[in-house]
Formats: sequence, structure tokens, C-alpha cells
Amino acid sequence: MSDHHRRGTFGSNMGFLMAAVGSAVGLGNIWGFPYKMGNNGGFVFLLVYLILAVFVGMCVMMGEMAIGRKTRQGPAGAYRALSQKFGWLGWLAVIAGFVILCFYLVLGGMVLRYAVGYFLAMFGVDTFGDPASFFGAFLTNGWSMVAFFALFAIINAAIVMGGVEGGIERFNKFAMPALFFLLLIVLIYVACQPGAGEGYRYIFGVNFEPLKTDFLGVVKTAAGQMFFSLSLGMAIMLTYGSYLPESENIQKNTVIIVAFDTLIAIMAGMVVLPACAAFGLDYGGGPGLLFATMQMVFHNMGGFIGNLMGFLFYFLVFLAAISSSISIMEGTVATRVDRNFRENKGGKSGGRRRASLIITIAALVLGLPVALDGLGSGIAGGALVNAPAQILNIAVHGWNDCWLDLYDMISEGILMPLGSLIMALCIGWSWGTDMILDECAKCGVKPWGRRFFEVCYKVITPIGMLIVLYGQIVSFFG
Ligand code: PFF
Repeated sequence: MSDHHRRGTFGSNMGFLMAAVGSAVGLGNIWGFPYKMGNNGGFVFLLVYLILAVFVGMCVMMGEMAIGRKTRQGPAGAYRALSQKFGWLGWLAVIAGFVILCFYLVLGGMVLRYAVGYFLAMFGVDTFGDPASFFGAFLTNGWSMVAFFALFAIINAAIVMGGVEGGIERFNKFAMPALFFLLLIVLIYVACQPGAGEGYRYIFGVNFEPLKTDFLGVVKTAAGQMFFSLSLGMAIMLTYGSYLPESENIQKNTVIIVAFDTLIAIMAGMVVLPACAAFGLDYGGGPGLLFATMQMVFHNMGGFIGNLMGFLFYFLVFLAAISSSISIMEGTVATRVDRNFRENKGGKSGGRRRASLIITIAALVLGLPVALDGLGSGIAGGALVNAPAQILNIAVHGWNDCWLDLYDMISEGILMPLGSLIMALCIGWSWGTDMILDECAKCGVKPWGRRFFEVCYKVITPIGMLIVLYGQIVSFFG
């Protein structure tokens, strides 16, 4: 059997789609999108986001997927196979992925805590206490943070150990439809609440005012959000593409994934913002919106229905988070497994279990400060460790505000946009758009938009990626 077949493939196109959508739909959609939309003028944010998703996101995703399938390798091997000079691009992506994993698992653990809490609350067991102060108290409760971080990491590892078809595909084929229906139920319930209309007006009411005051601010926030939300820059779509049979249509899959990811983000906005409107809470809750603000929403709903809605909501966020974190880990695991196959090590699965275990332990160790600094409260604020700015005794500057921000700056701030910028430039000016479209054509359907993609890869996508990179650097160091 060839290495390509031994590495594993998706059992069906539906399975691949669900896994790729699972990767894209995550905390970025349900946490990031609503709060960034809440802080950046609602409608205009949505508009800018959609434009960027088509001209930048779609092109980068299609490029990654085609490179993965063409080379049949994880990130490190794929870029090396295309060009000796750019082999390091793959490593950039692998390192970015691992750094993201370290904090994404902590955030996933936080969501898990809320899902478990609401589940128990449905049976009359209150583990939250005063909802107004729970979030702050939980953040600085190191033991609880670490316990849920570890639990989430174990579930994550168990799925990745199951392999591409038996673990990742099987999980997503159940989780994605479940997530969609749960989101729909919560959305309909929120829509029936008096006062929700104000939230929809904020999202869909045409209003260009915010662009006049802070054009660049809106564009750079939307650009960063789009990029993270579509799982780009970490060679995840590349890795998943490397498991895709040639008979499948890369272009069609890309369009579906981008559309679905955007749909879920908008639906999440249509839950969170109208819920705030209906229950008299501020949209601008920033990162606390998903936890502190939404908890107040469910508290204000009250009684069994409040607990039930709370459970459904946080459980769906949990599904979104874990389907993304397994993809993040798969990029790193695939790199090791590929190497084992090349060196004939690791037996039938290429040492997948061992690789997953080692990476999980490493992520647990490196994620520890993220879980323990109370997201920047530091020891003075009751947490167990200090944030980087406190340790270094320097002014808080975005990148050093808390350990999560430091990790985020390295990965999402620099490595990921830089890698994708170079990838787009390589496609546009060296490897050629034809290489991507010829890979797409292998399914037997002629790819559309040759001119369009040519212009995008050469000019528009790199400019878009420059905006992402610039926006990230300004937001961390500006
Ligand atoms: N797209 C995921 C989200 O929206 O939460 C996060 C993510 C997953 C980013 C995988 C990058 C990645 F490669």
C-alpha cells in the first residue's frame, strides 16, 4: 500500500466537508464574530467581512487544499515538495498551529465548564452561584480552569487518535448537523423574545456611519476575523486536502465551506446580539460577551428554560470548539505521522497515538500559564501566575496583556498571516494559478474563474493578506 493510502483518507466527500466545516466553524464564529460585530458597527462589519471572505479567504483556502491534495503530505512535507526554497513555510504553519492549540484548548475547557454547569442546573444543582460575578471568579480559580482544560484536551486527543476516518470524520458527521440544529433552536427561541428586533436592526440595518469614523479599524478587524474563522494560515485545509480523493471537487468544496462558515457566524450574531437587546445587556461586552454577558441572558430568562437554553447554547459552542481543536492538532500530528511513514516507523498508523499523546502533553504544559493567569488578572487579581507584562514589569501593550495574547500574537498575529501572504505570492508569481486550477480539474469538472483567480493570487489576495498582517501588528503593538 502506498504511503498516501496508509496515511488515511476521508471515507466520503460529505465526511470531508463536515470535517472542514467543523474546522472552520469554531470559537471564532460563535465567540469572535458577534463581539467584533458588536464593537465595529454591525452592518458595515458584515459587509466588509463578506467581501474579504470572497477575494481573500476563498482563494487562500482553495490554494491550501489544492497544494495538500497535489502533494499528499502534511504541512512540512507539502511545501518542501513544491519548492526546496519554501519548505520552511510548512514549519511556520505547524508552529503556528501548535501555539494556537495551547490556548484554544484552554478556551474549549472554559466552554466545557459552562456546558457542564448548565447541564447540572437543569437538575437543580447550582454550580455557578451569583451569575454577575461567576466569570471573574472562575477565571482566577486555577484548579477549575486547569481541570476543564485537561478534560477538554483529553477528549480532543481521543478523537484525533481515532484517525482521519474513524475519529475526525466520524465525530464531525455527527457534530456538525447537531451544532446547526441546536443553533437554530436557540436562534428561534431568541427571536421570540420581545425586544430582540433591535439586535437584528444592528446587524442588517444599512448604516455606513462607522466606516466614516474608523474605516481602517473596521477593515482590519474584519480581515483578521475572516482569516482566523476560515482556519487559514495553519495549513489545516492543506492537511485535510491531503486526505481528499482526486474525484472530489476542490472548488465546489471551498465555496461550500466559506459559505457555511459565514452562515454560522451570522447565525451566531443573530443569537447573541438580539439576546443582549432583549435582555437589556450591552453588545460591546468584548471578549466577555460569550461568557459573562450570555450567562446573564440565560439568568434573566430564568427557571428551567433558562438553564435548558444555556445548556443547548454552551453545548453547541463546545461542539464548535472541539471540531476546530481536533483540526488544529491534526496539522501537527500529520507532520509527525508523515515522517514516521517515510522512515518506516510507527507501524500501521504511523505512530498516530504516540504523536497525539506527546503533542497533547506538550500543549498541556505550554497552555498552563494561559489557564493560570486569570486572563491577565495576575497574582494581584487573585490568579496563580502573572501575565507577561507583570513578570517583565513593563507597560501593558496588547501582546503582553495576558499569556493568551502573547501566544495569539505569535501565531495569529504574525506566523499565520505571513505564511499565507507568502503562499499567495508564490502561487501568483511562481508556482502559477494553473497549478492550483489543474489540481481542481482532476475531479473531471472544468474549474471556473481562471482569470478571476489569476488576478486574485497575483494582486488582490496578497493585498488582503497585507491588510490582515498590518491589522494584526497594529492591534498587538500599535
Ligand atoms: N476556525 C476556527 C474558529 O473559527 O474558531 C479556529 C481555527 C481552527 C483557526 C483551525 C485556525 C485553524 F487552522
